[in-house]
Amino acid sequence: MNLMDKRAMLVLATGNRGKSHEIRKYLEEFPIDISDLNDFGPIPQVVEDGDTFEENAYKKAAFVARVLGFPALADDSGLEVEALGGTPGVYSARYAGPSATDAENNAKLIAALEGTANRKARFSCVLSLAVPAGHALTYEGACEGTILHVPRGAGGFGYDPLFYYPPMGKTFAEMTVEEKTSVSHRGRALQGLRQEFEKVLVWIEQRGKEEDYRRGKGDICLR
Ligand code: IMP
Repeated sequence: MNLMDKRAMLVLATGNRGKSHEIRKYLEEFPIDISDLNDFGPIPQVVEDGDTFEENAYKKAAFVARVLGFPALADDSGLEVEALGGTPGVYSARYAGPSATDAENNAKLIAALEGTANRKARFSCVLSLAVPAGHALTYEGACEGTILHVPRGAGGFGYDPLFYYPPMGKTFAEMTVEEKTSVSHRGRALQGLRQEFEKVLVWIEQRGKEEDYRRGKGDICLR
């Protein structure tokens, strides 16, 4: 059977509707049923205490895959501002405090860069695709731009209204989802996943069989 004819189930290990919307839109042509954490009842929160996007992405993906019993795709991403020594980085979501809103984070960033000539910044994204047994695949992407003095545009989420992308002459918040994903950190990481999607489906299927075998449920039973 062609694996592309079979519908696989994939849970996005995020409750962030902005991330979820971009990822679902990008993968919509594939034969997979995608859900995110908003589609499930409350599950325990993963502590995102890793020092890198990769560590946090793997933690989220492996945890959600284990808890829900489905392959899970996690995105860990953030904004690294050159004049601020690469911060807020892995702390981007909590830059202005543990439950900061996007507007509060943006206001803090504007204040932190007041009077600073160097406005260079980079968005980075690591995607981790994990199966319940804990194996994972990783994809990365980045996008360079500059930070504006005042927000522009009403689309997107997070720091999008402040992140200006010179080649398109727009902020991420002024782009359509398709435009943003064609150049963004997340879009570039997703491109890696999309390019080998058939192989990824085989990989998921094989890891699932190994798990069944371990539990004595496979074609070859240890008993
Ligand atoms: P995470 O959930 O720990 O990965 O937090 C990611 C945070 O980085 C988000 O809450 C945003 O503040 C920021 N971020 C990541 N990707 C984007 C993006 O595409 N646009 C705007 N902000 C982003």
